[in-house]
Amino acid sequence: MSEPVVLREDEGRVAILTIHRPDKLNALNQQVRDEMLEHLDAIQQDDGVGVVVVTGAGEKSFVAGADISEFEGRAPFDQRDAMRFPRIFDVMASFPKPVIAMINGFCLGGGCEMSMSCDMRIASDNARFGQPEIKLGLIPGGGGTQRLPRLVGMGNAMRLILTGDMIDAQEAKEIGLVDQVVPQAELREKTLELASKIASMSPLTVRIGKEVLRASERMSVAEGILYERDLFCLCFSTEDKAEGVDAFLNKRKAEWTGR
Ligand code: COA
Repeated sequence: MSEPVVLREDEGRVAILTIHRPDKLNALNQQVRDEMLEHLDAIQQDDGVGVVVVTGAGEKSFVAGADISEFEGRAPFDQRDAMRFPRIFDVMASFPKPVIAMINGFCLGGGCEMSMSCDMRIASDNARFGQPEIKLGLIPGGGGTQRLPRLVGMGNAMRLILTGDMIDAQEAKEIGLVDQVVPQAELREKTLELASKIASMSPLTVRIGKEVLRASERMSVAEGILYERDLFCLCFSTEDKAEGVDAFLNKRKAEWTGR
């Protein structure tokens, strides 16, 4: 048995998944993808977890991309076979609990794509972002051509993907690639603060909220507004809606049951 490359630790209702290949700047190989899927599968079943945080080991790198050594000598269908279903980034984007990327250094290629498949991104001030695949004679293959322009606009996405240039955390914030930039020393604390706050809400309502927000990526505004109306009305069937309204009206703190 080889050493695990994805480590899980829980802090209250938050599960932190750390990609642990620090000597390879946490590059994503097949073992990382397989272990991420196994952990997410277990977390999905675990009612004790409300939010997932994904990060990389060490202070130098979140994830420096797909493991380039696995690309050597591959023909198109070898690569196609390697891109097994379900694909990890799609699993993260549609995961029924929110996933937050805690970005602590290089966030490149598949690492940047992984962060974009998360629901929120918090970066340390030393983080650097890029889609350098063009320098390998490749284009992004983990959703980068689709998720990046939706976050940063077409011009910025074209620039990043067609030059392979890296940008710093501040610029990533300015163009919308990350939501918050914090000093490296505060990254874990600030991320856990956000994650714990979300994890203290009704897990059922959080799940419905994520589902309809994600739907905005694939639906027209008109369709999305109808979908929102239906899920808003669905909330009226839950015990947590009855509890939340009653708690407000009686000036007390709500106790969520997730039903
Ligand atoms: N795949 C495989 N190995 C990687 C890797 C990747 N994506 N990124 C880094 N590594 C490995 C390096 O080969 C090196 O391994 P070694 O010590 O066995 O030689 C180790 O991680 C440290 O990286 P190194 O390049 O020495 O660090 P650096 O600080 O000089 O440079 C980067 C950091 C991120 C600029 C550089 O590693 C890099 O360009 N990585 C590739 C980024 C990329 O193209 N990603 C997209 C892949 S599709």
